[in-house]
Amino acid sequence: MRLTNCHNFHDFRRLARRRLPRPIFDYIDGAADDEVAYRRNCESFDGCDLVPNVLRGVSEVDMSVTVLGQKLAMPIFCSPTALQRLFHHAGERAVAAVAAKFGTMFGVSSLGTVSLEELRAEHDTPQIYQFYFHKDRALNHAMMERAKTAGIEVMMLTVDTITGGNRERDLRTGFSIPMRLTFGGMLQFALKPMWGINYVTHKSFSLPQLDAHLKMDGSAVSIGRYLTEMLDQSMNWDDVAEMVQFWDGQFCLKGVMSVEDARHAVEIGCTGIVLSNHGGRQLDGSRAAFDQLAEIVDAVGDRIDVIMDGGVQRGTHVLKALSLGARAIGLGRYYLFPLAAAGQPGVERALGLMREEIERDMKLMGCTKVDQLSRSNIRFR
Ligand code: LAC
Repeated sequence: MRLTNCHNFHDFRRLARRRLPRPIFDYIDGAADDEVAYRRNCESFDGCDLVPNVLRGVSEVDMSVTVLGQKLAMPIFCSPTALQRLFHHAGERAVAAVAAKFGTMFGVSSLGTVSLEELRAEHDTPQIYQFYFHKDRALNHAMMERAKTAGIEVMMLTVDTITGGNRERDLRTGFSIPMRLTFGGMLQFALKPMWGINYVTHKSFSLPQLDAHLKMDGSAVSIGRYLTEMLDQSMNWDDVAEMVQFWDGQFCLKGVMSVEDARHAVEIGCTGIVLSNHGGRQLDGSRAAFDQLAEIVDAVGDRIDVIMDGGVQRGTHVLKALSLGARAIGLGRYYLFPLAAAGQPGVERALGLMREEIERDMKLMGCTKVDQLSRSNIRFR
């Protein structure tokens, strides 16, 4: 199978599975407990139908949106995800370059493998910094200062990883940083020698967002240890309100799901929320963001940018979310599998296909601008 034969999410996923050692594939593909939320995220889009309009003159489509103060050429963006250079040596560099090419936003994770400064200097497309809240308040301030100095446009605080999800695929393979593979996991790496050759012949793996602050030598501190020892489980709304004031710019909470929390986010001055169950990787059985979208938009949609992620694999999924009132839609695995499958050309092909689908689907829906999509275009069965 070749890149040119990849026409959708499932094709890229298959190609990534072929290329990646199984423990790494499972880290991306896996989710928590019984992976019900992961499956539900994808299925949630199938319970409703689009109602198109015709004969509206749709030769020119403008799919741009403004979200979190940023003008994006398309209504999707690359959500921050961890450890990208482990999936392909180009990692965040490839994803940022493609996002810039398509005029959209990308996120850099606290657990990113390329520094936020390098990416900021290289590209002039809007950049998100995904933030974890540490016990050490001075460290939180220092990290925000660093992002501010770098000129990061959007601060995105993840609020649904207060403890790690129960990812049983990772337990079986021993996937962690540094790797503590089980015998079976080791065998899986031996089966993909090309990945290993590629890995050892490129710049060694590091976590530059954290190295500078935490003096992690890349081997001593595992991600699990980082999350449990460094992050503050006592984090509450007052802490975040302080952070919002300190940041004094576009500030978004990722992982908000209830109306009550959405209202709280508005009250403390957040400019956006991402409805998300973290790709089903944290609380299994939690509601899919798409299922929860209308309720949240109705409650706060006129006061804050409501964004969603989870299970988005098609242009029609994007249109359904926009019809319910989402301002923009985040992609995760949708670009990670192409990255793993083929590096930058893979991500470019995947985002290109998504853009084509959105454009085709907007024409078929009879609309030339995103704000022409509304509840009148969608019916639940
Ligand atoms: C994950 C965390 C690191 O989902 O965001 O793996």
